[in-house]
Amino acid sequence: MKTDTALTLHAYAKINLTLEILAERDDGYHEISSILQTISLADVFSFELSERIQFDCVTSGSIRADLIENTVLKAANLFKRETGCPNGATIRMESMGIPRSAGLGSSSTDPAAVLKGLNQLWGLNMAPDELRGIASKIGSDTAFFIEGGTALAQGRGENIQTLPLLPKTWIVLLHPSITPTPNKTANLYGLLDSSHFSSGDLTQRLLNELHNSIQLQPYLLCNTFECVAFSFFESLNEYRNSFRAAGAKNVHLAGAGPTLFTLVESEAQGEAMVNRLREQGLGAQLARTV
Ligand code: C5P
Repeated sequence: MKTDTALTLHAYAKINLTLEILAERDDGYHEISSILQTISLADVFSFELSERIQFDCVTSGSIRADLIENTVLKAANLFKRETGCPNGATIRMESMGIPRSAGLGSSSTDPAAVLKGLNQLWGLNMAPDELRGIASKIGSDTAFFIEGGTALAQGRGENIQTLPLLPKTWIVLLHPSITPTPNKTANLYGLLDSSHFSSGDLTQRLLNELHNSIQLQPYLLCNTFECVAFSFFESLNEYRNSFRAAGAKNVHLAGAGPTLFTLVESEAQGEAMVNRLREQGLGAQLARTV
């Protein structure tokens, strides 16, 4: 039974403002340089002390609750092992606001929220760096979500440097109805070759601008996966065309996709664009940076 004392945490989604792939590594991963940004879409978790670790979640439609449960329980059990804490916890997903396997980081932000929630619930007071150390054993993007905000990710994505927060920026997301493919991220990395690799200069250019606290401009964004995603996801180009027809001047890919996004100048402009897309039966949503 949920009580009023339950600890509640938002697990925010992300977009990559830049995502450059620099080289292939000996361990099968790729060296990246990416500026990540959390956005207002969120899965909401609650945590309560209990004897053992358990997870409750209600999902709708085609969402595989067992996959989410697996991710959450793996993170909780890893955290318990790493810390040696004898406590248990009931973890609930109260609202699922992030589409799965969409390039928005759902499978990384959820385990990060579990680590942060258990750290707080069990009174362990572990520092963000220690939590990031555990998070990086879960997935390349998980460490970023320990603090979220605006950050530079290097290495395979687990080396995080927190950056000055961007001024609030509105974003319209277009969610293509494309069936998620297993191992999507690995498959997209597999389609890249050395001709797609870059030096990290585009990320450095945005880094320089962020220190001047500028409003984000589309020309500063880049994502190497755009070189392969529009052939990997068959109908993605049609979604991009519809997005442009609805007024999106610059369309960007979120992570490894297939979600597309565009920057808008105001909440009102974003709402109008979302309405135009929805009138065509497309899944669109307004979000802001957090
Ligand atoms: O770390 P994560 O489990 O999210 O990565 C999924 C897959 O994506 C990896 O197995 C690897 O094939 C690929 N990957 C990569 N380079 C990275 C991150 C992920 O090649 N920096």
